[in-house]
Amino acid sequence: MGGDPDTGRLALTVNTQQDDLMAITDSRVTIHMAASLDGFIARKDGSVDWLETSDEFAGGETMDPEFIAAFLKTIDCYVMGSRTYETALGFEAKGFGWSYGDKPTFVLTSRKLPRIRETVEFHSGDLAQFVNGRLRPKFRSIWFVGGGAVAAECLRLELADEVRYSILPVLIGDGIQFFEKLDRDVALHLAEVKAYKNGMVELRYEVRKHRDESR
Ligand SMILES: NC(=O)c1ccc[n+]([C@@H]2O[C@H](COP(=O)([O-])OP(=O)(O)OC[C@H]3O[C@@H](n4cnc5c(N)ncnc54)[C@H](OP(=O)(O)O)[C@@H]3O)[C@@H](O)[C@H]2O)c1
Repeated sequence: MGGDPDTGRLALTVNTQQDDLMAITDSRVTIHMAASLDGFIARKDGSVDWLETSDEFAGGETMDPEFIAAFLKTIDCYVMGSRTYETALGFEAKGFGWSYGDKPTFVLTSRKLPRIRETVEFHSGDLAQFVNGRLRPKFRSIWFVGGGAVAAECLRLELADEVRYSILPVLIGDGIQFFEKLDRDVALHLAEVKAYKNGMVELRYEVRKHRDESR
Protein backbone atom coordinates (compact mmCIF):
# COMPACT_ATOMS: atom_id res chain seq x y z
CA MET A 1 0.00 0.00 0.00
CA GLY A 2 1.42 3.39 -0.96
CA GLY A 3 1.08 6.84 0.59
CA ASP A 4 2.40 8.48 3.68
CA PRO A 5 0.77 6.92 6.77
CA ASP A 6 1.08 10.10 8.79
CA THR A 7 -0.72 12.13 6.13
CA GLY A 8 -3.51 9.53 6.04
CA ARG A 9 -3.87 9.52 9.78
CA LEU A 10 -3.85 13.28 9.96
CA ALA A 11 -6.57 13.46 7.30
CA LEU A 12 -8.71 11.06 9.26
CA THR A 13 -8.14 12.85 12.56
CA VAL A 14 -9.32 16.10 11.03
CA ASN A 15 -12.34 14.37 9.53
CA THR A 16 -13.16 12.59 12.78
CA GLN A 17 -13.09 15.90 14.57
CA GLN A 18 -15.73 16.95 12.09
CA ASP A 19 -17.73 13.91 13.16
CA ASP A 20 -17.44 12.40 9.69
CA LEU A 21 -17.24 8.72 10.55
CA MET A 22 -17.00 7.66 6.88
CA ALA A 23 -13.71 9.51 6.58
CA ILE A 24 -11.26 8.58 3.86
CA THR A 25 -8.09 7.11 5.25
CA ASP A 26 -5.32 4.74 4.27
CA SER A 27 -5.95 2.60 7.32
CA ARG A 28 -7.23 -0.84 6.49
CA VAL A 29 -9.58 -3.16 8.34
CA THR A 30 -8.99 -6.83 7.58
CA ILE A 31 -11.07 -9.78 8.75
CA HIS A 32 -9.00 -12.94 8.94
CA MET A 33 -9.85 -16.44 10.09
CA ALA A 34 -9.23 -20.04 9.12
CA ALA A 35 -12.23 -22.17 8.21
CA SER A 36 -13.13 -25.68 7.17
CA LEU A 37 -14.12 -26.07 3.52
CA ASP A 38 -17.76 -26.08 4.65
CA GLY A 39 -17.36 -22.62 6.18
CA PHE A 40 -16.99 -23.24 9.92
CA ILE A 41 -14.44 -21.57 12.22
CA ALA A 42 -15.11 -23.81 15.22
CA ARG A 43 -17.29 -26.75 16.18
CA LYS A 44 -20.59 -25.94 17.91
CA ASP A 45 -18.90 -26.37 21.30
CA GLY A 46 -16.18 -23.90 20.26
CA SER A 47 -13.42 -26.46 19.77
CA VAL A 48 -10.83 -25.99 17.04
CA ASP A 49 -8.96 -29.33 17.20
CA TRP A 50 -9.65 -29.81 13.44
CA LEU A 51 -7.32 -26.88 12.63
CA GLU A 52 -4.47 -29.42 12.77
CA THR A 53 -4.83 -31.00 9.33
CA SER A 54 -2.41 -33.25 7.49
CA ASP A 55 -2.32 -32.88 3.75
CA GLU A 56 0.25 -32.37 1.04
CA PHE A 57 -0.21 -30.37 -2.11
CA ALA A 58 2.94 -30.73 -4.17
CA GLY A 59 2.33 -27.59 -6.23
CA GLY A 60 1.77 -25.39 -3.16
CA GLU A 61 3.91 -22.68 -1.66
CA THR A 62 5.94 -23.28 1.49
CA MET A 63 5.14 -21.26 4.60
CA ASP A 64 8.36 -19.44 5.26
CA PRO A 65 8.62 -18.63 9.01
CA GLU A 66 10.70 -15.53 8.27
CA PHE A 67 8.10 -14.24 5.82
CA ILE A 68 5.32 -14.90 8.36
CA ALA A 69 7.25 -13.09 11.11
CA ALA A 70 7.88 -10.11 8.83
CA PHE A 71 4.22 -10.08 7.76
CA LEU A 72 2.93 -10.18 11.34
CA LYS A 73 5.02 -7.09 12.06
CA THR A 74 2.89 -5.16 9.54
CA ILE A 75 -0.25 -5.70 11.65
CA ASP A 76 -0.76 -2.77 14.03
CA CYS A 77 -3.57 -4.05 16.26
CA TYR A 78 -6.05 -6.86 16.71
CA VAL A 79 -9.78 -6.78 17.46
CA MET A 80 -11.74 -9.83 18.64
CA GLY A 81 -15.01 -10.91 20.22
CA SER A 82 -15.13 -12.07 23.81
CA ARG A 83 -15.64 -15.73 22.92
CA THR A 84 -12.51 -15.70 20.75
CA TYR A 85 -10.65 -14.07 23.63
CA GLU A 86 -11.87 -16.82 25.95
CA THR A 87 -10.50 -19.40 23.49
CA ALA A 88 -7.17 -17.53 23.45
CA LEU A 89 -7.16 -17.55 27.27
CA GLY A 90 -7.72 -21.32 27.19
CA PHE A 91 -4.83 -21.80 24.75
CA GLU A 92 -2.52 -19.76 26.89
CA ALA A 93 -3.54 -21.67 30.03
CA LYS A 94 -2.66 -24.92 28.22
CA GLY A 95 0.79 -23.58 27.38
CA PHE A 96 0.20 -22.87 23.67
CA GLY A 97 1.11 -19.21 24.09
CA TRP A 98 -0.50 -15.97 22.99
CA SER A 99 -0.93 -15.53 19.22
CA TYR A 100 -1.05 -11.74 19.12
CA GLY A 101 2.49 -10.85 20.18
CA ASP A 102 2.93 -7.48 21.82
CA LYS A 103 0.37 -5.76 19.58
CA PRO A 104 -2.57 -3.88 21.14
CA THR A 105 -5.51 -6.31 21.29
CA PHE A 106 -9.02 -4.95 21.69
CA VAL A 107 -11.62 -7.35 23.06
CA LEU A 108 -15.27 -6.51 22.42
CA THR A 109 -17.36 -7.41 25.43
CA SER A 110 -20.06 -6.19 27.76
CA ARG A 111 -18.75 -8.49 30.51
CA LYS A 112 -15.95 -8.25 33.03
CA LEU A 113 -13.24 -10.62 31.80
CA PRO A 114 -9.75 -11.32 33.14
CA ARG A 115 -7.11 -9.01 31.66
CA ILE A 116 -4.14 -11.27 31.20
CA ARG A 117 -1.67 -8.80 29.71
CA GLU A 118 -1.11 -5.09 29.38
CA THR A 119 -1.70 -5.08 25.62
CA VAL A 120 -5.32 -6.23 26.13
CA GLU A 121 -8.03 -3.59 26.32
CA PHE A 122 -11.77 -4.18 26.62
CA HIS A 123 -14.35 -2.25 24.69
CA SER A 124 -18.15 -2.13 24.74
CA GLY A 125 -20.51 0.15 22.88
CA ASP A 126 -20.80 1.46 19.33
CA LEU A 127 -18.42 -0.60 17.16
CA ALA A 128 -18.48 1.76 14.15
CA GLN A 129 -17.56 4.73 16.30
CA PHE A 130 -14.81 2.71 17.97
CA VAL A 131 -13.25 1.58 14.67
CA ASN A 132 -13.65 4.80 12.68
CA GLY A 133 -13.17 7.26 15.49
CA ARG A 134 -10.56 5.55 17.66
CA LEU A 135 -8.73 2.80 15.81
CA ARG A 136 -8.45 4.17 12.27
CA PRO A 137 -6.77 7.44 13.29
CA LYS A 138 -4.17 5.53 15.29
CA PHE A 139 -3.55 2.23 13.50
CA ARG A 140 -2.92 1.59 9.82
CA SER A 141 -3.43 -2.18 9.68
CA ILE A 142 -6.34 -3.28 11.90
CA TRP A 143 -7.03 -7.01 12.03
CA PHE A 144 -10.36 -8.48 13.13
CA VAL A 145 -9.49 -12.03 14.10
CA GLY A 146 -12.91 -13.43 14.95
CA GLY A 147 -15.12 -14.92 15.74
CA GLY A 148 -18.12 -15.30 13.48
CA ALA A 149 -20.36 -12.89 15.42
CA VAL A 150 -17.83 -10.08 15.28
CA ALA A 151 -16.85 -10.78 11.64
CA ALA A 152 -20.49 -10.50 10.58
CA GLU A 153 -21.03 -7.34 12.62
CA CYS A 154 -17.92 -5.80 11.09
CA LEU A 155 -19.30 -6.42 7.58
CA ARG A 156 -22.86 -5.41 8.50
CA LEU A 157 -21.54 -2.04 9.66
CA GLU A 158 -19.40 -1.71 6.50
CA LEU A 159 -16.21 -1.45 8.53
CA ALA A 160 -14.16 -4.08 6.69
CA ASP A 161 -11.92 -3.32 3.72
CA GLU A 162 -10.80 -6.88 3.10
CA VAL A 163 -11.50 -10.48 4.06
CA ARG A 164 -8.73 -13.07 4.29
CA TYR A 165 -10.21 -16.52 4.32
CA SER A 166 -7.89 -19.46 4.90
CA ILE A 167 -9.56 -22.71 3.85
CA LEU A 168 -8.25 -25.84 5.50
CA PRO A 169 -8.48 -29.24 3.82
CA VAL A 170 -11.23 -30.62 6.06
CA LEU A 171 -15.03 -30.75 6.33
CA ILE A 172 -16.53 -30.74 9.82
CA GLY A 173 -20.27 -30.81 9.01
CA ASP A 174 -21.53 -28.30 11.57
CA GLY A 175 -20.27 -25.49 13.75
CA ILE A 176 -19.87 -21.73 14.13
CA GLN A 177 -20.01 -19.98 10.78
CA PHE A 178 -17.30 -17.61 9.52
CA PHE A 179 -19.99 -14.93 9.16
CA GLU A 180 -22.70 -15.61 11.70
CA LYS A 181 -26.18 -14.67 10.47
CA LEU A 182 -25.14 -12.11 7.90
CA ASP A 183 -28.45 -10.56 6.87
CA ARG A 184 -27.60 -9.26 3.39
CA ASP A 185 -25.35 -9.80 0.38
CA VAL A 186 -21.85 -8.37 0.45
CA ALA A 187 -20.14 -7.95 -2.93
CA LEU A 188 -16.44 -8.86 -2.98
CA HIS A 189 -13.52 -8.53 -5.35
CA LEU A 190 -11.08 -11.44 -5.47
CA ALA A 191 -7.64 -9.87 -5.01
CA GLU A 192 -5.34 -12.83 -4.34
CA VAL A 193 -5.31 -16.63 -4.15
CA LYS A 194 -2.48 -18.68 -2.68
CA ALA A 195 -2.29 -22.43 -2.23
CA TYR A 196 0.17 -23.90 0.27
CA LYS A 197 1.99 -27.21 0.52
CA ASN A 198 -0.09 -28.17 3.58
CA GLY A 199 -3.30 -28.04 1.51
CA MET A 200 -4.46 -24.66 2.82
CA VAL A 201 -5.83 -22.13 0.34
CA GLU A 202 -5.77 -18.48 1.29
CA LEU A 203 -8.29 -16.22 -0.40
CA ARG A 204 -8.01 -12.46 -0.13
CA TYR A 205 -11.06 -10.45 -1.09
CA GLU A 206 -11.58 -6.73 -1.09
CA VAL A 207 -14.98 -5.66 0.17
CA ARG A 208 -16.81 -3.69 -2.47
CA LYS A 209 -18.36 -0.77 -0.68
CA HIS A 210 -21.79 0.48 -1.83
CA ARG A 211 -20.17 3.18 -3.92
CA ASP A 212 -18.18 0.52 -5.90
CA GLU A 213 -21.08 -1.80 -6.62
CA SER A 214 -22.21 -0.15 -9.82
CA ARG A 215 -18.79 -0.87 -11.40
N1 LIG B 1 -10.84 -20.69 12.99
C1 LIG B 1 -10.44 -19.49 13.32
O1 LIG B 1 -9.57 -18.88 12.67
C2 LIG B 1 -11.05 -18.83 14.52
C3 LIG B 1 -10.73 -17.48 14.77
C4 LIG B 1 -11.35 -16.86 15.84
C5 LIG B 1 -12.25 -17.55 16.63
N2 LIG B 1 -12.52 -18.85 16.37
C6 LIG B 1 -13.50 -19.58 17.18
O2 LIG B 1 -14.75 -18.93 17.07
C7 LIG B 1 -15.47 -19.09 18.29
C8 LIG B 1 -15.97 -17.74 18.76
O3 LIG B 1 -16.75 -17.13 17.77
P1 LIG B 1 -18.20 -16.56 18.10
O4 LIG B 1 -18.81 -16.10 16.84
O5 LIG B 1 -18.94 -17.58 18.91
O6 LIG B 1 -17.90 -15.36 19.11
P2 LIG B 1 -16.99 -14.02 19.02
O7 LIG B 1 -17.31 -13.29 17.75
O8 LIG B 1 -15.60 -14.36 19.31
O9 LIG B 1 -17.54 -13.22 20.29
C9 LIG B 1 -18.87 -12.74 20.28
C10 LIG B 1 -19.12 -11.99 21.59
O10 LIG B 1 -18.37 -10.76 21.58
C11 LIG B 1 -19.10 -9.78 22.34
N3 LIG B 1 -19.35 -8.57 21.55
C12 LIG B 1 -19.17 -7.31 21.99
N4 LIG B 1 -19.43 -6.41 21.04
C13 LIG B 1 -19.79 -7.09 19.96
C14 LIG B 1 -20.20 -6.69 18.68
N5 LIG B 1 -20.28 -5.41 18.31
N6 LIG B 1 -20.54 -7.65 17.80
C15 LIG B 1 -20.48 -8.95 18.16
N7 LIG B 1 -20.09 -9.39 19.38
C16 LIG B 1 -19.75 -8.46 20.28
C17 LIG B 1 -20.42 -10.44 22.76
O11 LIG B 1 -20.20 -11.05 24.04
P3 LIG B 1 -20.33 -10.38 25.51
O12 LIG B 1 -21.39 -11.18 26.18
O13 LIG B 1 -18.98 -10.63 26.12
O14 LIG B 1 -20.66 -8.92 25.37
C18 LIG B 1 -20.57 -11.57 21.76
O15 LIG B 1 -21.33 -12.64 22.25
C19 LIG B 1 -14.51 -19.70 19.29
O16 LIG B 1 -14.82 -21.07 19.40
C20 LIG B 1 -13.15 -19.54 18.65
O17 LIG B 1 -12.30 -20.57 18.97
C21 LIG B 1 -11.95 -19.49 15.32
